[in-house]
Amino acid sequence: MLITGASSGIGLALAKLGLQRGYRVVATARKSSLSRFRSLGLPESENFLIRPLDVTNADQREALIAELNKHHHGVDVLINNAGIAYRSVIEHMSSADELLQMETNFLGPMALTRLVLPRMRKQRRGCIVNISSVGGMMAMPTMGSYSASKFALEGASEALWYELRPWNVRVVLVQPGFVHSNAFRHIYWTHRGKSALTGQDDYHAYYANMESFVERLMGIAHATPDSIAKKVLRTIESAHAPLRVSATADAVFFSWIRRFLPRRLYHGLLYRGLPGISHWGKN
Ligand SMILES: NC(=O)c1ccc[n+]([C@@H]2O[C@H](COP(=O)([O-])OP(=O)(O)OC[C@H]3O[C@@H](n4cnc5c(N)ncnc54)[C@H](OP(=O)(O)O)[C@@H]3O)[C@@H](O)[C@H]2O)c1
Repeated sequence: MLITGASSGIGLALAKLGLQRGYRVVATARKSSLSRFRSLGLPESENFLIRPLDVTNADQREALIAELNKHHHGVDVLINNAGIAYRSVIEHMSSADELLQMETNFLGPMALTRLVLPRMRKQRRGCIVNISSVGGMMAMPTMGSYSASKFALEGASEALWYELRPWNVRVVLVQPGFVHSNAFRHIYWTHRGKSALTGQDDYHAYYANMESFVERLMGIAHATPDSIAKKVLRTIESAHAPLRVSATADAVFFSWIRRFLPRRLYHGLLYRGLPGISHWGKN
């Protein structure tokens, strides 16, 4: 089982649980996080390897899969978990910011998937788990690029589900909603977004309200990285898992209202429910 972004949050919980359940786990982290990861006290063994992997780096992706194919019987389960989230209105994103968001959450995972597929198809067995998000089914202001990356992941995974079914290779999209974790501390900011949050800016109210809103919801969320990891493993082990798996109660709720409310009503309700919306656009 190969897990990307395993140095914290959901990836770390997955690595621990996978190991406990007897999987042979390859947990990867960016070079800059490796020493922190190693200091967590999970000793490497025949069943637990820690390897450097920046999912945006083609050389690292290829070297890792080549090593696993050559010395460790390849990858049976790939969990594309690594992800970043920009908090930015679309107007404040630069092209470089957009590219980093897409490379990390979509292009890198797709490239890694392409590397493991030949062997999975040859064996006619395998599982690709893509950790998506509620943001992959609905977009919110200041999270547009994050949502775009997860929508892309969702679209490609859906196509892949059809393409791989004849080969008995499963594809699953796991959609967590708000998770009680420190992930909001890892938010990426654009230069313009950061100064809009703290200073005078046309978009100040957007950032100030969305920032505290998301932090509050993550703080009170029942779901934890451990509960998401359990859901992921249950999904991997279930022969009949659907393509999309809601991993939190709010994900179930949002997928229902997204599906069943008429779109005009849905967008209108969500708009009116945005935090501090009466102040937006008033500067
Ligand atoms: N937490 C939530 O509320 C939530 C909700 C919905 C979906 N998700 C999704 O769940 C996944 C895990 O998120 P999390 O909550 O566990 O967040 P997290 O604690 O911030 O973990 C993200 C992980 O991704 C790694 N990462 C970032 N960029 C990378 C890159 N270029 N190459 C390799 N690894 C990279 C990070 O490594 P470093 O330590 O090196 O930065 C970190 O280990 C993400 O895909 C996220 O979008 C999370």
